[in-house]
Amino acid sequence: MTAPTGCPVAHGRAPEPAPVGDIRAEAEQFLRLFHGEHPKTGPVQPRLAQVLAEIDETGTYRHTEGELAFGARVAWRNSARCIGRLYWQSLRVRDMRKVRDAGTVAAQCAEHLRSATNGGRIRPTVTVFAPEAPGRPAPRIWNEQLIRYAGYWDAETGAVIGDPRYLDFTEEVMRLGWQPPATRGRFDVLPLVVETAEEGVTLHELPRAVIHEVELSHPEHNWFAGLGLRWHAVPAISHMRLSIGGVSYPAAPFNGWYMGTEIGARNLADRDRYDLIGPVAERLGLDTSHDQTLWRDRALVELNRAVLHSFNRAEVTITDHHTESARFLTHLRKEEDAGRKCPADWSWIVPPMSGALTPVFHRYYDTDQLTPEFVLDPDAARRGTTGAPRAFPEPAAAEPKKLPRIRRLNWFTRRAPVPVP
Ligand code: ARG
Repeated sequence: MTAPTGCPVAHGRAPEPAPVGDIRAEAEQFLRLFHGEHPKTGPVQPRLAQVLAEIDETGTYRHTEGELAFGARVAWRNSARCIGRLYWQSLRVRDMRKVRDAGTVAAQCAEHLRSATNGGRIRPTVTVFAPEAPGRPAPRIWNEQLIRYAGYWDAETGAVIGDPRYLDFTEEVMRLGWQPPATRGRFDVLPLVVETAEEGVTLHELPRAVIHEVELSHPEHNWFAGLGLRWHAVPAISHMRLSIGGVSYPAAPFNGWYMGTEIGARNLADRDRYDLIGPVAERLGLDTSHDQTLWRDRALVELNRAVLHSFNRAEVTITDHHTESARFLTHLRKEEDAGRKCPADWSWIVPPMSGALTPVFHRYYDTDQLTPEFVLDPDAARRGTTGAPRAFPEPAAAEPKKLPRIRRLNWFTRRAPVPVP
């Protein structure tokens, strides 16, 4: 049921923070990679010594801006499930490592969407929020993507309104206090859910102005627009952890642009999503009486033509699976020329329609798991569709904290206060 859904990664990895032994080894490996690919930064030794000393003292270390940008770009380069990696070097990296409170996280997610949407000329972007550090847990974003549509049970008909993938998530945010629109629709944008150790779980409605959507129509069939379908312009994954050189950034939303099939052959077509193959086939007047008329396949093609046509007409960046497959082979060639392995997961790379028509079908790939990487932790994966489990214990209610006692603890405790659970 959770077959491939497009871009990056999902490797079950042990929960962070990693023990200090690991962070030292991972830091060294990463710094060697960075200096190896950037000869102008000089020999790795001085920086490595500095970082190891910092780890000894604090249990972690701070990336330079150059290291952060490189780490994020290489995490994309290493995303075995992503067909769109040709442009990995152009990823915009927004350094928001100072941001750890929920309100600013949400506001910067909105700013991410605005600047990544760029009026339709979508720019691949990552926003990196505060890292995990000893005694200072990082913020979490629960949502799978910054923009996702709610799913509701319709009490009268027993059918689902909206995206069935988010039925449980929607129910949970409503329990937490989210008020859906007065009339529930098929494309109601869910609120952002940000959790911090200090503030607990908080809900944030995205400003309408940063939610760019495309209304779907068909190049020939006028009735198609009457189906009232739409999709959001920017796919921004927000529940994966960016892992660079032993440092974890659990909140690091990133986006590219869509490949049409992600919407037309999965989001709108899967039986457990919008399930629109039947209705489209019916409007097309196809003979649905038996499988061998290939009515599903024919409806699928028209649905996907509508997606590409509509995004192009709205001047929102989108790519098709033929173009993107060719680009991916270019990427593989370039990586090989650079003397690197390029990990790829065949079952995710091959597009969900017309697989063998694309060149990526007809070969095998390296499957090594490389770092830096975007990681989908099992708990984060569950939170993204169900709203559970929480990342942190509920913060104590606003009763006065026992500050005097904490203050009398040693200086280290004061510098890095442990939030009262
Ligand atoms: N497949 C996901 C979706 O349909 C998006 C995954 C990321 N895709 C991308 N083109 N960067 O929303």
